[in-house]
Amino acid sequence: MMIVSTLDELRTARLLLDGTLGLVPTMGYLHEGHLSLTRRAKTECKYVVVSIFVNPTQFAPTDDLSKYPRDLERDLRLLDSVGVDLVWTPTPEVMYPPNFQTWVEVEEMTRPLEGSMRPGHFRGVTTVVAKLFNAVQPTKAYFGQKDAQQAAVIRQMARDLNFSLEVVVCPIMREADGLAMSSRNVYLNAEQRKAATVLFRALSAAKAEFEKGERDAEKLRRKMEEVIEAEPLAKMQYVSCADYDTLEELQTVKGKTLLSMAVFIGTTRLIDNFVLG
Ligand code: PAJ
Repeated sequence: MMIVSTLDELRTARLLLDGTLGLVPTMGYLHEGHLSLTRRAKTECKYVVVSIFVNPTQFAPTDDLSKYPRDLERDLRLLDSVGVDLVWTPTPEVMYPPNFQTWVEVEEMTRPLEGSMRPGHFRGVTTVVAKLFNAVQPTKAYFGQKDAQQAAVIRQMARDLNFSLEVVVCPIMREADGLAMSSRNVYLNAEQRKAATVLFRALSAAKAEFEKGERDAEKLRRKMEEVIEAEPLAKMQYVSCADYDTLEELQTVKGKTLLSMAVFIGTTRLIDNFVLG
């Protein structure tokens, strides 16, 4: 497995990888969710490149960027074990050189949901992902459904900016009790960890209503709220029942639909979603 940091090193290494290439962008502190993306890439592409970069521009000034969990040595061991060919670990100076002033911004779709709670977040995500696409030139790029809006926004960006690659969205990997795997789960103490299943429980309850025939989106949102409110350690930030492609809030469920939510467990903010239809 090759490991490179500078742009020159990346370009030299990239030239050695001749054939279909899958890129898996990450911020490190890898878990089974990330590894599932690399495994999928491995089955579909000749070579797999993983980037590890905790992107400062997608964190709000109030978020503690320095607190984001990191363990590069462990990450590299894991990536080597799943047969990744090249790991790119750019520094902030490589990604954002002095006098950096060019940004990529997707408009409508970044306003609701995560965008409404985290101003500027998606501008940071799309800018860094566009830079990763340009530098690595992948055939396919792999993202998790865990970050449903991020995946939708990146698909939109790739279309709008004529990136000649395929965006592949992979299913959410969960713990045995339903909690979606996330680097942020390490912040939860034992009691909070139990309470954190509330996201999966709320989504499951709404899905059960849907399967019984409920098509009133407001009733599905209410159902999710009820379950979250019954969990003393949980504080709901938003629940949503929206069109899968446009992310517009629905009145009546029809076609592919995204149930999603953001919930605080203590000071840890968790997100999760189900797709209906
Ligand atoms: P990060 O949070 O490290 O996630 C990297 C990729 O792993 C994302 O596509 C995310 O959706 C996926 N992922 C995370 N948890 C998952 C799970 N439980 N199951 C399946 N996939 C999962 O998302 C980012 O980094 C950044 O925003 C990035 C795209 C790298 C840009 O900085």
